[in-house]
Amino acid sequence: MDSPLKILVTGKRGQVGWELQRTLMPLGRVFAVDRESMNLADSSAIVQTIAHLKPDVIVNAAAYTAVDKAETEQALAMQINGQAVQVLAEEAKKHKALLIHYSTDYVFDGTKSQPYSENDTTAPVNYYGVSKLAGEQAIQTVASDYLILRTSWVYGNRGNNFLLTMLRLMQERETMAIVSDQYGTPTWARFIAETTAHIIKQALQEKAERLFTSGVYHLTATGDTSWHGFAQMILQLAKKNAWQPELKIKTLDKTGTANYPTPAKRPLNSRMATEALCERFSLHLPSWDEALALCMERLHNGD
Ligand SMILES: NC(=O)c1ccc[n+]([C@@H]2O[C@H](COP(=O)([O-])OP(=O)(O)OC[C@H]3O[C@@H](n4cnc5c(N)ncnc54)[C@H](OP(=O)(O)O)[C@@H]3O)[C@@H](O)[C@H]2O)c1
Repeated sequence: MDSPLKILVTGKRGQVGWELQRTLMPLGRVFAVDRESMNLADSSAIVQTIAHLKPDVIVNAAAYTAVDKAETEQALAMQINGQAVQVLAEEAKKHKALLIHYSTDYVFDGTKSQPYSENDTTAPVNYYGVSKLAGEQAIQTVASDYLILRTSWVYGNRGNNFLLTMLRLMQERETMAIVSDQYGTPTWARFIAETTAHIIKQALQEKAERLFTSGVYHLTATGDTSWHGFAQMILQLAKKNAWQPELKIKTLDKTGTANYPTPAKRPLNSRMATEALCERFSLHLPSWDEALALCMERLHNGD
């Protein structure tokens, strides 16, 4: 019998990493690591872990994701999102492993009026975006077999995300003002993980047939909204899911980015075109609100 495929997943306690542990299970043996077992700030820990496990696939779901804090912790953000990614890429190449890496809508400056395609010029407006772009470029320079999946506005039923923050605040406050001039696509972490499993399966088949090509793809749900629109939909679905008795919120006002200063600037347009991913991997992507409804139903039922 062939030995099972070995898959290394980083960031196992993160939104996407957590879901990957389950969705990748049918593909092979999953070795999921956290910062205690493989600290990305420690290059030798990365080298040793990969030399020991000899994975066939590395899925890097770990990242420095504190967008505002990254402005003052630039060296750390670059170490995790740039330098560590370069080490992962070098080790993936050395061990002939397929590298799957996540990146972000924040590599773009948001001035385009249409959704961004993969080949559009990158120009991050904050340091988190700068560090994530450095990670992308490191992978492309080392040039092993890789897929970089840019995603956006990630939420799920654990971790720090807009959905959980809104549900908490809606139970504490009667009014809130939410930014209504930044547009993007909310994307469920579980959906990213499920889609990643599908992508890996096909990529391995392509590799076996020597048809594989590396590349950058956009992986989000479809459609778009503003943060205010996202909050409104959360409220509507919360009422439907019988969170109603706990909800204090009466009004959700709109505000502009200019009235809501944050340490890190955000792009006004975060929308990304997903046609290239759908075409290559024969995917149907759900609309963002359809996925949100399913996520909130699961959340309500403790799943
Ligand atoms: N969240 C978003 O809205 C968003 C949007 C676009 C793209 N992305 C990208 O999508 C990917 C997954 O994001 P996510 O939302 O799942 O992130 P997340 O929930 O913030 O999880 C990130 C994970 O990285 C781990 N990590 C951070 N520093 C580490 C270190 N030094 N060594 C080892 N592990 C470390 C964290 O560990 P601890 O649990 O110990 O802190 C955490 O488990 C990332 O590449 C992110 O850049 C996210």
